[in-house]
Amino acid sequence: MADARPFHWEFVPEPVTREVFRIEGGVPLRGEVPISGSKNAALKMLAAATLTGERCRFTNVPEIEDVRVMAETLRDLGVVVDHPAPNTYEIASGDVEWLFVPLEAAAKMRASFILLGPLLARFGRVIISNPGGDRIGRRPVDLHVEAMRTLGATIEYRNGYYFATAPGRLRGTEVRFPFVSVMGTENILLAATLADGHTVIRPAAKEPEVDDLILFLQKMGADVERTYEDTIEVRGQRRLRGAEHHVIPDRIEAGTFAVAGAVTGGEVTLTGAPCEHMTAFLEVLDRAGVSARCEGDRIEIDGRGLGDGAFRAVDIRTAAYPGLPTDIQPPTSVLLTQANGDSRVHEAIFEDRLEWLTELNRMGARIDIADNQHATIHGRTPLHGTEAEIGDLRAGASLILAALAADGESTIHGAHHVQRGYENIERKFADLGARIARLEEGTISTTS
Ligand code: EPZ
Repeated sequence: MADARPFHWEFVPEPVTREVFRIEGGVPLRGEVPISGSKNAALKMLAAATLTGERCRFTNVPEIEDVRVMAETLRDLGVVVDHPAPNTYEIASGDVEWLFVPLEAAAKMRASFILLGPLLARFGRVIISNPGGDRIGRRPVDLHVEAMRTLGATIEYRNGYYFATAPGRLRGTEVRFPFVSVMGTENILLAATLADGHTVIRPAAKEPEVDDLILFLQKMGADVERTYEDTIEVRGQRRLRGAEHHVIPDRIEAGTFAVAGAVTGGEVTLTGAPCEHMTAFLEVLDRAGVSARCEGDRIEIDGRGLGDGAFRAVDIRTAAYPGLPTDIQPPTSVLLTQANGDSRVHEAIFEDRLEWLTELNRMGARIDIADNQHATIHGRTPLHGTEAEIGDLRAGASLILAALAADGESTIHGAHHVQRGYENIERKFADLGARIARLEEGTISTTS
């Protein structure tokens, strides 16, 4: 029984090894790069597996730090998590004995909050840490909590933890969000699959990762359907069964490697890429003069640009899907430093996602940040190597892109931020010909 356990936590975070990326820039990247499974789909599915006591099996799960943290968090709840082969996870949640998601998990990964919905729906209670904000903004969870209350949950907030209970079953109802939230949609969706009755979620996020989660839930026997573009309807079941699922490819990783091909003036083919989920980004590439040819699940990027490696300036604005993803704004900003003229960037989703552009300025870019939503990139500016510090996942990947495009050597500190969301990033870049190495902080060594 959960209550019989003493109130202490056994989660021992792995010590973060301070590592740096050492990059010698200026090499046009060439070759093929395989795109891994989607981080933001895989994390939610691993959580969804707690909706049943039967075994679930996932393939194409990316080998990244966030997945490892989710697996550890589940294990500490008493869930059996096997990792029988690379990119494959098996989960059996028969005996969940400890319905407590600690601060240590939440501090490492905001996505731990996705466990609220499934644990509450299946076990009727959970204590879960407030994930708080991070380097890209405040990122509250008020929408998740309010919506869960409309399903009949009682949720109190004390000392940084949400104490959530739902004696009996949650009750299906109409959930109206004031604006679209990806994880808010997913949390309610997961909870509603085991609720008593019919739930309508509106406006529901339209991201492909949400649809992949719906597909997995349907395989588990859930009665879930996207009835309109922005509406998801769920008829709750008493029980769900185990299922198998192959996670969709990561459209943000694909976009990151597309920009790498372009800014280095190279020719890169993305294999296993989700062309159909990347329309808004591919339009930006097209307007900028980057040739991107989709054929099935391959995207061929030709970075010769307008002839001398320059591109056209483009104004961009991030938006919920099918708009330009906020997660691809930082890589796109690197591309726009190599475009002739002024490009305006409007970051409409997260409030602190432009701050890292000051690091790009230290590499030779000319970017004016007007406020936390607007910046102007004055191009084209040559970039030069530097020493920089990574603050978050996507800014980190983008600093690598800038360093690959720059003349000279760069040392980028804080490699662990990038390992949260990109599988083997330095190996993949090295296979394309990049001179990049991941080294322990303080190691003096030449790049390979
Ligand atoms: C998901 O975050 C992704 N994370 C993010 O990816 C992604 O940037 C984001 O969606 C937008 O596409 C995961 O899927 C794990 P939101 P999520 O709720 O769901 C505000 C990456 O780099 N909001 O759609 O947390 C919020 O502050 C990451 O892979 C509230 O005000 O994002 C933001 O301004 C980072 N209250 C907006 O809504 C809430 O309760 C949209 O956020 C929830 C959100």
